[in-house]
Amino acid sequence: MTDAPVDPTSTPAWSRLTALAAGFEPDLRRWFDEDPGRVERLTYVAGDLHVDLSKALLDDAVLADLLALAEEVGVAARRDAMLRGEHINVTEDRAVLHTALRLPADDSLTVDGQDVVADVHEVLGRVYDFAERVRSGAWTGVTGERIRTVVNIGIGGSDLGPVMAYEALAAYRQEGLECRFISNIDPTDAATTLAGLDPATTLFIVSSKTFGTLETLTNARLCKAWLLHGLAGHDEAESVAKHFVAVSTALDKVADFGIDPANAFGFWDWVGGRYSVDSAIGTSLVVAIGPERFAELLGGFHTMDEHFRTAEPAQNVPLLMGLLNVWYTNFLGAESHAVLPYTQLLHRFPAYLQQLTMESNGKGVRWDGSPVSTETGEIFWGEPGTNGQHAFYQLIHQGTRLIPADFIAVANPPYPLEDGGTDVHELFLANFLAQTRALAFGKTADEVRAEGTAEAVVPARVFTGNRPTTSIMAPALTPSVLGQLVALYEHLTFTQGVVWGIDSFDQWGVELGKKLAQEVGPAITGDADALAAQDASTQALIAYYQEHRRR
Ligand code: F6P
Repeated sequence: MTDAPVDPTSTPAWSRLTALAAGFEPDLRRWFDEDPGRVERLTYVAGDLHVDLSKALLDDAVLADLLALAEEVGVAARRDAMLRGEHINVTEDRAVLHTALRLPADDSLTVDGQDVVADVHEVLGRVYDFAERVRSGAWTGVTGERIRTVVNIGIGGSDLGPVMAYEALAAYRQEGLECRFISNIDPTDAATTLAGLDPATTLFIVSSKTFGTLETLTNARLCKAWLLHGLAGHDEAESVAKHFVAVSTALDKVADFGIDPANAFGFWDWVGGRYSVDSAIGTSLVVAIGPERFAELLGGFHTMDEHFRTAEPAQNVPLLMGLLNVWYTNFLGAESHAVLPYTQLLHRFPAYLQQLTMESNGKGVRWDGSPVSTETGEIFWGEPGTNGQHAFYQLIHQGTRLIPADFIAVANPPYPLEDGGTDVHELFLANFLAQTRALAFGKTADEVRAEGTAEAVVPARVFTGNRPTTSIMAPALTPSVLGQLVALYEHLTFTQGVVWGIDSFDQWGVELGKKLAQEVGPAITGDADALAAQDASTQALIAYYQEHRRR
């Protein structure tokens, strides 16, 4: 599907939204007082997620025109083209089918003459079988001992998804079996991650879609050397075969690295790296939580896919949240978006979302090569509450910038604890509720004065309110709920991309730095020609390094 993108700014809906924004005076206090139906009207259900947009800077007129905008730029048509397997990743001429990774086995989807669902479940079956063998102890290392630690080596989408989900689903992990993750080419990462591990009980999963990523291949070689050193005396090929598996779309390169193709799990070029946690890239997670729980995770993804595919626009949560972000970004001037999970289990979720959203929509040209006509790609960031409250919330409450924030909480924590008869999770939830309330409704000067505050300090203690939040709640952070959450953000990212006319599935912006790193490398190691080819600042930084490096 290579149709030219619709310029959103040329649509009637965009003109109306522009006019609405010009006269927009959000007043959440008044809106709540005068409109008793607001909360019910703006609360939505998608799968197990309860999504409350009532504290958003949104009224019925804006909502109607955002939905009209989605219609006028063709979000639904492009969604359907994606789900059919059309090549909507135009700049790479690829289908975009992460949704096929979670289709049930009895479904089918034929793309370019191939039933991709059959392929997906064939690989899943192999991953599940491998994971069961590691979990049961049937898979042993070269000394005959069972595996105690699985180390995933990968970066970007081949790391962030597995780490995020491993942390999120901590309560579901098998005891006595730990996963660790090495991503950074900083040798500190490999050194500290391997510290204390026994090579005889350690298994590495080299995860790389392309199997050409410098960081991952370097770390894989470091780990191979560490393993062979630790297992000196054992046959090297057998050691690698029993302690290394791989996940990649490039199985020929896996073989070149020395990993037996029988110990490799494939996936396909129609899965973007940042959309791959639910492919074989999640193998470390399958080992940790088991096939049954991983299948529940996939089920959760599918639930949200079906919601996005079938829910009418006015009730379609990913569509609404994506459009709301467009409203904040393009009409109200927001530049960033905070994600604030009130569950420590989601402490890597903001980092995961940074790749998902910013690598997808951080683009300045549209899928036909023309420049975008609007701001794109807000900056996603965040930390779990309540830690963030004691760090950066000050700026969200009283700073000069508009920062829409998503608050995420669950009703049931996996580790309920009491403090002198008080349910600590309820204390935690009280903070979630207090923060969204304070942001929405603020505190007036009169309210501050009524507390007996000295007049000179009153301005500093006023909270303007009207700081928008979305509250997302779920019964518990189960594998299914996690899948639903991730798919929610995948689809809202897609929605924004279509409005902006962006190919949300390529990532050319990371290429230049990779290429230059290869060119700079020799300049650091003493190649005079390579050094001469660098700019003056780079030369000076290399000179500093040479001067200070202890040899
Ligand atoms: O450099 C960006 C990127 O291509 C991401 O999109 C990807 O998730 C990551 O690198 C890792 O790539 P690979 O899985 O091919 O090693």
